[in-house]
Amino acid sequence: MNDIKDLAACGIPVGFPTSVEQIREMTMLYSCAMREVCTKLENLSQEFELNKARNPIQHINHRLKRLESIRNKMIQRDLPLEYETMRDEITDIAGIRVICSYINDIYAISNMLKQQDDLLIVREKDYIANPKVNGYRSYHLIVAIPVFLSSEKQIIPVEIQMRTIAMDFWASLEHQLRYKSQSKVSDSTRQRLTNIAEDTFRADLEMQQIYEEISAIG
Ligand code: GTP
Ligand code: MG
Repeated sequence: MNDIKDLAACGIPVGFPTSVEQIREMTMLYSCAMREVCTKLENLSQEFELNKARNPIQHINHRLKRLESIRNKMIQRDLPLEYETMRDEITDIAGIRVICSYINDIYAISNMLKQQDDLLIVREKDYIANPKVNGYRSYHLIVAIPVFLSSEKQIIPVEIQMRTIAMDFWASLEHQLRYKSQSKVSDSTRQRLTNIAEDTFRADLEMQQIYEEISAIG
């Protein structure tokens, strides 16, 4: 990962963060936290695979939020551009996306994560049970994990987004379309996108059911 280059790509805005050292420290801390959580997810996936002879996780992506995006988000939320405020308020600097096979795999993995006593659950948003009005579905968990350094421990937040392949198909293309279209998207186009979200969710439910039926037969 090209973290330092990526974070610094937009230049170092005056006052935020104040120095290259601060960017380096921040990159190190959030990378460590992200790696720890990724390892936890990979371990759970391996154990699940051993017991159930299939992999609940299709793949895992991770990224550090660009400094420019962090800055824009703080400005949007009217937050002072201070390192400490960023540390306290911006919880998606380290982001992990977990693409699962079936809806139930998402809940299984997240329940296992929640039982780990070195992880603090900061926030949970279940957009599968409660989809957004545009049809967006995913399960979001913000966790905080200790990062042990030579002489101290820091608690760092990590955002985990969990989705099925179908939810990821919709969210990825919808995101692309939103950024692609400069002009306002019409109501009918928006409705068509929402309809696709509903169709893909039906496909997810059907796939889940087929999987359960086939598993029951053995
Ligand atoms: P952010 O400030 O965007 O982080 O929003 P939030 O703090 O209210 O969190 P929320 O859980 O709503 O969304 C966090 C992330 O979920 C976003 O950054 C996107 O990656 C994803 N997301 C949320 N809503 C949508 C959506 O409608 N479409 C797509 N494609 N992604 C979404
Ligand atoms: Mg975000």
